[in-house]
This record gives sequence, structure tokens and C-alpha cells, in this order.
Amino acid sequence: MYGSKVIISTVLRWRFFMRLEESEIEAPRLGEPFLLTPGPLTTSYDTKSAMLKDWGSWDGDFRQMTQLMRDQLIEMLGSGNESFDCVPMQGSGSFSVEAMLGSFVPKDGKVLVLSNGAYGQRAAKTLKYLKRDHIVLDKGDYLPPRGEEVAEILETDNDITHVVAVHCETSSGILNPIEEISVATYNAGRKLLIDSMSAFGAILVEPNKIKFEAIVSSANKCIEGVPGFGFILARKSALEAAEGNSHSLCLDLHDQWSHMNKTGQWRYTPPTHVLAAFLVALESHRKEGGVIGRGARYTKNQNALVSGMRSIGFETLLGERWLSPIIVTFFCPADPSFEFTKFYDLMKSKGFIIYPGKLTVVESFRIGCIGQMDDQIMLKVVDAARESLREMGVTDASPPSKALEERKRLQS
Ligand SMILES: Cc1ncc(COP(=O)(O)O)c(C=O)c1O
Repeated sequence: MYGSKVIISTVLRWRFFMRLEESEIEAPRLGEPFLLTPGPLTTSYDTKSAMLKDWGSWDGDFRQMTQLMRDQLIEMLGSGNESFDCVPMQGSGSFSVEAMLGSFVPKDGKVLVLSNGAYGQRAAKTLKYLKRDHIVLDKGDYLPPRGEEVAEILETDNDITHVVAVHCETSSGILNPIEEISVATYNAGRKLLIDSMSAFGAILVEPNKIKFEAIVSSANKCIEGVPGFGFILARKSALEAAEGNSHSLCLDLHDQWSHMNKTGQWRYTPPTHVLAAFLVALESHRKEGGVIGRGARYTKNQNALVSGMRSIGFETLLGERWLSPIIVTFFCPADPSFEFTKFYDLMKSKGFIIYPGKLTVVESFRIGCIGQMDDQIMLKVVDAARESLREMGVTDASPPSKALEERKRLQS
């Protein structure tokens, strides 16, 4: 019995890897599963290999590497980038979000947080810790905060100094309408801070087209580096004005920025190997055609995934207008034979790690479109999902009616 299981799984893997030859992207060389997650994600072998060398953090070579990264990230912003500077910050993305909020919102400032998922909620929680006055426009699990709602709140509350928006709310995959939010914010004379953790590098946010003070992302998202630091791209005027605002020494962006500009060094131990890997990832990003090229591959991934999953009966939480090329939420099937943990294990055995959903009303799961994958690989993901349903005895992948009623709220 056990022997036949091994043979079946070997044959499946063999079949899987044979078919991967059609893809232009190499499967993980050490045989680990693809990470269909919002990051850390599957990185290239070259990116990982760049970490085999040690770097002295004070040495001129490493200082040059830091400067190169900062310059390339500013360039990636596109038109209007000359007013911006880049400040990297050690830690995961949340450390950089906290650094941005604590450094740009003065102690007597007030923030309007636009929340439609876990990362909006985390921004509000961070402000609570930082003891910064704030109010939350809470749109629930995924409904988008709209420009007119922002305008209305700003008109009635003159104390609000800053608006915080999440670009792609990774917990549902919705691409929030950042342009109309920016227009409403600056029409009311306030300032916008953007958490573009999961979208920066794949979706353009040019300062000449969308006005904002600062935007934050991290190494292990659309630029396809490994985890270890985040970065904030901010107006130089905002960085200058940030002196003395921060609640925290380590997360003080003004201090990190002025020290880096004076010495070329990070203030405290930098993630040397992570930066070396990130430079290789940046070079691949440039060769792929920058933000446009990277975004085009992810969009092809999303289209292959969504149409394939729909063809086997799955339904997406979001309609086309709100889907992002970053990550897609699917409803779990109503079929009583479907169990997410079993589905997860079966998908993993076929070479794919997927992600649980974060909706509170109905059960869901998520599949990421970012990382070292192309549309051919996404077709294998769909094959794996079809096969996993068959192995579980699920004959119908359609969601419960409650899920479809929930989805109607977005269309109304
Ligand atoms: C939009 C958004 N903000 C913040 C974060 C937090 O980043 P981290 O988990 O690296 O702390 C994430 C992580 O996926 C994210 O997607």
C-alpha cells in the first residue's frame, strides 16, 4: 500500500517536472515546492546564490551596494521621483510600516486609516501602540474605501493630518483605488502614506500621477528578493520634517536617513546577504522590463490561474474590476468532502504551497501570482487543484450560496 503511494507520488512529480520544461522559469532547483504565497515567495537560484559571499558592513564595497539599491528603487518610482529619497529599514515589512507611521505622523497628528482587511487593521493597531490619534474607515473584509468617502470624512474632521491607505490589501487580494484616495486626500490639503508592500515593483505608482508623501514595501515581494528588510520611498521634504517625531530609536526613519546620507552606512547591523541577493533580484527586475514587465508577467499568471480555477468550478471573491495580479482569493467549495487542510496537503504533495484565506464571513483560500513563476506554472497549479479535488472526492467546487450573496455586496 505504502509502496504504491510512493510510486504514484513519484510518477506525479515526474510528470509535473517533465511538463515544467515548457515553462521559461526554472523550478526550484533543490526541489522545494513553489510558494504561491504573498511573500516570502519563490526566488531564483541566482538570487539565492548571491548570499554565498560575506560582506563587511563598514566596507566601501557594501556601502556602494547600499547606494546602488537606493538609487535603483528611486528610479523604479518613475516620473516625479526626483523629490524622493529611499530609506531601507532592517526587519520585516511591518517594521517599515511602523517606521513610516511613527516618523511621518507627528505626535500631535491625527490619521485616517482606510481599512478593508488585515493590513489596514494592523496599521490602526500600530498607531494605537504609537499613541497617535486616529480614526478608522472600516470597510470590513474587502469592500474598497472610495474617494468620496475619504473626502466626506476629511471635510468633517479638520484634525486629520494624514491618510493611510493599503495599495493591494493582500488579505483579500483587492487592488484598492489609490488614485481617487490620493485626489481626495490632497484636495482636502492632507497627506497620504501608502502601504504598497505587496504591489510595489509590479504596479506603477508614479508620484507625478498619484501624489503621496511616502510609500513602503519590502525585499521579499514583487522585486523577488529574500526577506530581511523593507524600504520607504519618501519625499525629501517629509524626511526633513520627520526629525524628532519617532517614538523609537531603531525605527526612526529620519535618523536612519541622515546617518546613511552622511556615512553611506546603515545605523545598526545590516542584512548584508539579503542586500546582496536583492541587488541580483533588482537586476532581473530591470531585465524583465521593470515595473511594466514584472506586472505583465504577474497579470498573465493571474489570468491563467483565474480562468483555469473557474473552469473547474471555483469562484473568486472579487469581480474583475477589483482583482489584482498579486494574489487571488477563492471561496472554498460547499461540497462536504472539501476540507482546506487536506486540500493544502494534497497541493503541497504536488509541489505547490497555497495560503489560507482571511475572510471572516465565509471560508476561503488564496493563491499568489507573484514570485518566480509564469503562466505555464499556473496551469500546473490548476491541474494540481483539479487532481486534489478528485482525490478528495469533491465533485462540485462551487461555493455555498452565502459566499455568492457576500460577493453581491461588492457589486451593489
Ligand atoms: C499590504 C501588506 N502590508 C504589510 C505586510 C506585513 O509585512 P511583513 O509580514 O513582512 O511584516 C504585508 C505582508 O504580506 C502586506 O501584504
